[in-house]
Formats: sequence, C-alpha cells, structure tokens
Amino acid sequence: MLEVKNIKKKFDDLVVLDDISMQFEPQEISTILGPSGTGKSTLLRCLIGLEKVDSGEVIIDGQLLNYSETSLLAHRQKIGMVFQEWHLFEHLSVIDNITFALRKVKKMSKKDSEIKAIELLKKFNLDSRKDAYIHQLSGGQKQRIAIARTIALEPRYVLFDEPTSALDQETISDFITICQDLISLDLGIIIITHDINFASKVSHKIYELKNGKIHQEN
Ligand SMILES: Nc1ncnc2c1ncn2[C@@H]1O[C@H](COP(=O)(O)OP(=O)(O)OP(=O)(O)O)[C@@H](O)[C@H]1O
Ligand SMILES: [Mg+2]
Repeated sequence: MLEVKNIKKKFDDLVVLDDISMQFEPQEISTILGPSGTGKSTLLRCLIGLEKVDSGEVIIDGQLLNYSETSLLAHRQKIGMVFQEWHLFEHLSVIDNITFALRKVKKMSKKDSEIKAIELLKKFNLDSRKDAYIHQLSGGQKQRIAIARTIALEPRYVLFDEPTSALDQETISDFITICQDLISLDLGIIIITHDINFASKVSHKIYELKNGKIHQEN
C-alpha cells in the first residue's frame, strides 16, 4: 500500500496540503480532481518524494520515507511518474529512451535492455516506431513511450499528472485500456485530471482536492 498520513505542505504562507491522509492499493485506479492551483501536482510530487512534506508521513509497503538518499532511492524504485510533458529525451530514439533508463537505473547490459525494450514496445504497439525520434511521434504515441519507459523500471505504483489533457477521445479510450492492463499486472494507479467524464469511466476511487483538504467523491 502507498499511504500518506496527516501530511502538510506549505510554500511560504500558502498552505497547499492541510493534514491529508490517503491510501492507495495495488489493482486500484484512483483519480484526484480539483481546481487549478489547488495542489494536485504538489501532492503527486510529495507521494514520489520530489517534494518534502513539512509534517506527516509518506509510507510505501510499510517503509516510511525519511528523505535520506537510501530511503529516497528505495521509495522511487517502487513508484513511477508520468509527467504531463512526458519528459522524454528528444535527442534519443524511441528504443533508446527505454534502454537508457534500463541501463542507468536497472544497470542492465545493452543486449538485455534491448530485449526488454522491444518486448515493451510490442506491448504498447510501438515496435514499428522504435527508431523514430520523439519529435516524430503523435501525442498518444509519446504518452505510450513515457508509460513504457516508466513500466520498464517495474514500479508498484504509477502516478499520472493530467494524462488526458492533450489527447483526443479515441486516444483517451486507449489510455483507459492501458490503465486497466496495468492494474491487472498488480500495479496501483493514481491519476490527476480535470476531466470528470474520464475520471468516472476509469476510477475505482475519485477524490477532490480543494482548499488543502481531500474529499472522497464515491
Ligand atoms: N516550488 C514552489 N514554490 C512556491 N509555490 C509553489 C511551488 N510549487 C507550487 N506552488 C504553488 O502551490 C500551489 C499548488 O500548485 P500545484 O502545481 O500543486 O497546483 P495544481 O493543482 O497541480 O494546479 P494545475 O491544475 O494548474 O496544474 C500553487 O498556488 C502554486 O503556485
Ligand atoms: Mg498541476
């Protein structure tokens, strides 16, 4: 389980997260809605340890994040994040975006990383684009590469910040299918979105973050 207990986060005098407690389970899709500027991305950044909470606890599978280098490393091995702008390496090919992560993070050999990358590209229906550069891909393809790269590192939870904002309806449907495949592999998914229609289709649990507080909607 990925859990936050009574977390608080402020920037100067602005209280963004005010005593928030939540629990996320594998095989579950949770979405978090809320007005712009309310702290949704900050919450995700706290979950993955990119932002340090002022008080409260972030716990994954019983391990408390204490922000030491070792603790952060162990924590981030269990969580992947797909950013809104994808954060792909534009100067690398599709396949190298994945093999680079595998070699750097998982210390895999070139050959093993290529075998694993091809396997993933097939799964995401991108093997025919393996030698393309990122700028040659569509929005939906970029998203699938960003997801494939995250999944390659075998996280237990995947966080998505506004995954559907730049996608058309058909690509959003494909994304819903991908999410359902991921939870069937025992992953937990946490999605930030503005799209209530999408949230109601994809989620097991829907939350709203507003004025620093979280409310469960269903
Ligand atoms: N590093 C920072 N330093 C100071 N203020 C920050 C920082 N990061 C975020 N904030 C402020 O915290 C608040 C919450 O920001 P956050 O990005 O989490 O909102 P959000 O809900 O993701 O908004 P959006 O829907 O527009 O993406 C905003 O008022 C923002 O200006
Ligand atoms: Mg945001």
